[in-house]
Amino acid sequence: MDLSVRLGPLTLKNPLIAASGCFGYGLEYGEVVDLSSLGGVCVKGLFLSEREGHPPPRIVETPGGMLNAIGLQGIGVHRFIAERLPELRERGATVLVNICGVTLDEYVEVARVLSDAEGVAAIELNISCPNIKEGGIQFGCSLSGTYDVVSAVKKVTHLPVIPKLTPNVTSPSAFARAAEDAGADAISLVNTFLAMAIDVETRRPRLSNIMGGLSGPAIRPIAVRMVYECRCEVKIPIIGMGGIMDARDALEFIIAGADAVQVGTANFVDPFVWGKILDGISDYMTRHGIARIADLVGTTDTSPAHSHA
Ligand SMILES: Cc1cc2nc3c(=O)[nH]c(=O)nc-3n(C[C@H](O)[C@H](O)[C@H](O)COP(=O)(O)O)c2cc1C
Repeated sequence: MDLSVRLGPLTLKNPLIAASGCFGYGLEYGEVVDLSSLGGVCVKGLFLSEREGHPPPRIVETPGGMLNAIGLQGIGVHRFIAERLPELRERGATVLVNICGVTLDEYVEVARVLSDAEGVAAIELNISCPNIKEGGIQFGCSLSGTYDVVSAVKKVTHLPVIPKLTPNVTSPSAFARAAEDAGADAISLVNTFLAMAIDVETRRPRLSNIMGGLSGPAIRPIAVRMVYECRCEVKIPIIGMGGIMDARDALEFIIAGADAVQVGTANFVDPFVWGKILDGISDYMTRHGIARIADLVGTTDTSPAHSHA
């Protein structure tokens, strides 16, 4: 059985990647998850320098999901390379680095710094975080901004560049096209949905930032639809995510058109979810006589249903 997947120039041993922001810098989970058993680990979003993020409360549970407004707290790219990357390398992790920038120049500089570091497999361009005002999202919500940041980063790195798209636009597939036209090696989608929750007793927003990003099973059908639409629009590989909790959810994204998937919020519920998802995918492939997981990608059957006559 072949679980390997190709994301442009990058080959992963299986399609499961830890989603950015839900798995720390990977090492935090090192005692419970064999990092080398994952297809990849996408680390928390990194700017050039350290950031504190928003004050608490930064996380709220909602029906079938959670809201977060962490505000991209992080140690910055230089400390990441010095303090985390060597151990990630030792543990055999395939490391995707999620990068952020307030300006286009910052994206370019973070990408350039990472390109010189040993042990980075790909750059995921976070142009879709809904929780901060400045930077990132202004590129991800503009077609020309998406094109510009992807092509600028492509110019300074040999690493695969994977822009992560926002679902907070009318037509994510138009953004997928802009990313492909700019030379993206693959795309990731979706980031979280801009959302809000209010405590009716105090009438105060439940998050200090007032609004935050919704993730978890509540968003899954919308995310699946967006992956399906993007698969119809572009040829580059897609990394799909949004509310994957088990193997069936992961398979749904793959059938919709995702070459690989990321698992985020599920880690907060069950850090042992990885083995279960992989086993479930293998069982499915055995039951359906599928030798290569890549053969399942984008195989949604939209032909008219058979009649029962
Ligand atoms: C607490 C938290 C922090 C996140 N931080 C980031 C981040 O730094 N960069 C990013 O691109 N996405 C970030 N995300 C979005 C996730 O990577 C993922 O796109 C989203 O949560 C949908 O997947 P899920 O439903 O499996 O969690 C974060 C999500 C959560 C819940």
